[in-house]
Amino acid sequence: MVDVGLARRTVTLDGTDTVPVTPRRRLWRGVALATFADASSGGAGADAPYGLIAQGAVITEGANIVWVGRESELPAHAAVDEEYDGGGALLTPGLIDAHTHLVYGGDRATEFEQRLQGVSYEDIARAGGGIMSTVRATRSATESQLLEQATARATALLHEGVTTLEIKSGYGLSAEHERRSLTVARRIAETLPLTVRTTSLALHALPPEFAGRADDYVTESIAWLRAQHAEGLVDAVDAFCERIAFSPAQVARVFAVARELGLPVKLHAEQLSDSGGTQMAAEFAALSCDHLEYLSANGVQAMRRSGSVAVLLPGAYYMLRETQLPPIAALREAGVPMAIATDHNPGTSPTLSLQLMLNMACTLFRLTPEEAWRGVTVHAARALGLHDRGRLMPGLRADVALFDAAHPRDLAYRIGGTACRRVIIAGQEVAL
Ligand code: NIG
Ligand code: FE
Repeated sequence: MVDVGLARRTVTLDGTDTVPVTPRRRLWRGVALATFADASSGGAGADAPYGLIAQGAVITEGANIVWVGRESELPAHAAVDEEYDGGGALLTPGLIDAHTHLVYGGDRATEFEQRLQGVSYEDIARAGGGIMSTVRATRSATESQLLEQATARATALLHEGVTTLEIKSGYGLSAEHERRSLTVARRIAETLPLTVRTTSLALHALPPEFAGRADDYVTESIAWLRAQHAEGLVDAVDAFCERIAFSPAQVARVFAVARELGLPVKLHAEQLSDSGGTQMAAEFAALSCDHLEYLSANGVQAMRRSGSVAVLLPGAYYMLRETQLPPIAALREAGVPMAIATDHNPGTSPTLSLQLMLNMACTLFRLTPEEAWRGVTVHAARALGLHDRGRLMPGLRADVALFDAAHPRDLAYRIGGTACRRVIIAGQEVAL
């Protein structure tokens, strides 16, 4: 067991107790670092798996990292305002959950029971349950109820070391309710110190008001997207491309507008069947394609060419008792970066543990623990189009997490509970 009760002391630079300079410089020493630097990015630790530095140190200044390396190589006269000794604990980049549906009302435990009795996810959806059942519960919740529940979920993730979180709409499916979900998602970042990236997902299911008029719904949703964008509520656009949801051609109409507005796109693709959504998304240089259990060899090549990240969601795979694995070996061979996310939602992935997803990515998908870790750090950042985080490197944001662990593989091995002891976001310690 590693002692993570850090000693905190203020270092005075000239022997007197002066008022600290701003921005404050903080030194973390006595830590094992997983920097996730690699040969292409350079940086300290690039020559080792996980970018590991066994006896490391990090200096932050204000919101940014300014120095990373071996403790023995700390600059001789590094002037710092505060110094922390980690006692051998593991310091990593703050975790990034790149795919969640955190804003919703109700739950789907009844549907879980039905599925255990043999009714399929698709059958439940076709009978008006599934996503539509959560849409009804979300519409009937008040905004403050939605905010309170979503904030509690985000807090659970924060306690595991998550510092950046993507949140999709998609349980409103009307102008008013989609806008409300995105507003709630934005408001979470006013209550908690996390970074929240919002994604508009109106093309999640066809609401009954538009039964038999899917193309009209697409037209309507485009008008909502323009309004949401004008209000500054949207960072990206997503859709559910599937035989029970929307076709590649329908999604492409929305993606064309996203491109016009300068918004990046991502796609729920090939989750239940191969609809060729990935190839369509590649034409829009999608940031990511997510799920991918039924991804074809052509789909893999399209992702390689477009540079999209494959966001793998072991929680949904597990919960649906899926048996078709995403083509991990082909993605690996093609050099497609793989991210791992919770996909937190009430239907297919009611988990609030990104740490558990590290384990499931290894046990279910056979990723290596290092691949899984890169999937919740550097590749997750890329899946969100964020280039200022996901590694421990000078110039990046000082978003870090400290774990009661000696090595990152310990966290992929672990099932349940959190080993996270301290979280720092933009250089500020978060009270857990
Ligand atoms: O990512 N596949 C589509 N969307 C969600 C599930 C939504 C739901 O069932 O409520 C997913 O798995
Ligand atoms: Fe999802």
